[in-house]
Amino acid sequence: MRNPRFIDCPRPALAPALEAAAGLAAQPARLPPKFFYDALGSRLFDAITELPEYYPTRTEAAIFAAHRGAITAAVRGAVGGAMTLVDLGAGSCCKAESLFDAFAPARYVAVDISAAYLRDTLQRLQQRHPALDIVGVGLDFSSQLALPAELLGAPALLFYPGSSIGNFAPADALRLLREARAAAGGGALLIGVDQVKPVETLQAAYDDALGVTAAFNLNLLLHLNRLLGTDFDAHDWRHVSFFEPRASRIEMHLEARRALAVRWPGGERRFAAGERIHTEDSYKWRHGEFEALLRQAGFASVRAWRDDAGWFAVLLASG
Ligand code: AVJ
Repeated sequence: MRNPRFIDCPRPALAPALEAAAGLAAQPARLPPKFFYDALGSRLFDAITELPEYYPTRTEAAIFAAHRGAITAAVRGAVGGAMTLVDLGAGSCCKAESLFDAFAPARYVAVDISAAYLRDTLQRLQQRHPALDIVGVGLDFSSQLALPAELLGAPALLFYPGSSIGNFAPADALRLLREARAAAGGGALLIGVDQVKPVETLQAAYDDALGVTAAFNLNLLLHLNRLLGTDFDAHDWRHVSFFEPRASRIEMHLEARRALAVRWPGGERRFAAGERIHTEDSYKWRHGEFEALLRQAGFASVRAWRDDAGWFAVLLASG
């Protein structure tokens, strides 16, 4: 059996702790959602995907199940045989693995910010798929999708499921789509995109009855205590989320329950009671809007599959 290869990409210009400190000191305070995903945060997110209120994961899975034949034919038509499958934000790699039979990739490239988690996952994946050429790439692609040059060249299928693109404001999403098109090298992009739907449904998905999303949001404070050495007490903070219709996005914030100060080596920030830290945006797109963005990014052909309610879209962009 072969072993998965790993490529650790050069460190980002701004070290994570410095980026977190800058966000905490900003007015208003703002932390990028990538800081959710420490080991506990990744597990809390997995738990979110099983909540009755959180429709995206199961709706996307239902679209793949209902249209598997058509999606497979379109992907093979766009990328050709012996393809490289590039999984952006691979995490547990479950979604991509469920497509191995259909797409029959020759090489699987799993890209994730959490390189340690990826190593574990890929060791086990290789045991289940001994003949597959597996490459792990530890990379934070939130500001630039710079894949190692040795992996580029042949047409590839870039796979970006789950509406992770929802964390990007439209202008940043457009930039990432352009970079994805370049990286695909004449292949295609298969992407999951969440759609606008009744506001109660949206808000329930980000404020579930069990409080798992609240725990996911609050865990960011525990992660910062380790990453930056802050002295956050999660008891002092409250999960706040709502749909903001003008920007067409769910916003998540952490709100101070009382006036307090947070200290870390080299910094301090006071918060008034009710003051917030903005932790996530999750954009929701209207039917046709994201298709237009893909064309703007240079893709000549876009195909879409949706569930019957039109809550979620799986889009294949090529050309
Ligand atoms: C991983 C960005 C797709 O926006 O739905 C879930 C993250 N945040 N619940 C989303 C998330 C709160 C999720 N994405």
